[in-house]
Amino acid sequence: MSVTETQGRASETIAVEIMGKKYRIPPGLTMLQAMWHTGHELVRGVGCLGAVCGACPSTYRTKGDTKIKTTLACQTQVEDGMSFSLTASYYPDKKVVYHFDEMKDPKQDLFHYYPEAALCRNCDACTVACPKGIDVRTGVWKAVFGDFKDASDLFLSCVMCSLCVPVCIADIAPNQVGLFARRAQGIFFEEKKPQLSLRVKEIADGKFDTEWERLMTLPDEAIQAESSV
Ligand code: FES
Repeated sequence: MSVTETQGRASETIAVEIMGKKYRIPPGLTMLQAMWHTGHELVRGVGCLGAVCGACPSTYRTKGDTKIKTTLACQTQVEDGMSFSLTASYYPDKKVVYHFDEMKDPKQDLFHYYPEAALCRNCDACTVACPKGIDVRTGVWKAVFGDFKDASDLFLSCVMCSLCVPVCIADIAPNQVGLFARRAQGIFFEEKKPQLSLRVKEIADGKFDTEWERLMTLPDEAIQAESSV
């Protein structure tokens, strides 16, 4: 291969560094696609590919910038000179088991399960780390002050990727606090629609069991055909 040919091919690709190793890849790939393209086998750290499951939290740095940023790898397009890693496919953040049907006052119970929530020092690192653009710090404070409605609204697009967890200097798991507030808001404080209760009872009574079992036997194409009718 001539030097000119080599240069021509190189100009059609971009240079990236994936987990410390250099590659040339076609432009236009997401970080996950770039990893597949370079032969990385992803056993963890990949799910929906649509930014809703939170399985692909990642860190990256762009050319000429010292700042390490956080993102969802399925949604971030790779650019020339980028260095990245799918390092954060799971954070062992604090998960507690709680039963809302045993709670009398979830706004106080929050402090039993997540006492560190009130120790936020307002550094805002959680908000900066959030790949969904959530004002995480405000969400935590809303939950701490018992405003579960606002906290729920703020955390509505949280996908539980946990990127807010390792950056918290007060050792809060902000995503878990947000999830607690969202669940409690729905169970204790939101108006219950009668249609919802009716449908839940129908499901519990087995009204749809036969149809569900039929659907589970169908091939994918048949399900798609039925859902498009
Ligand atoms: S794979 Fe589901 S959020 Fe990225």
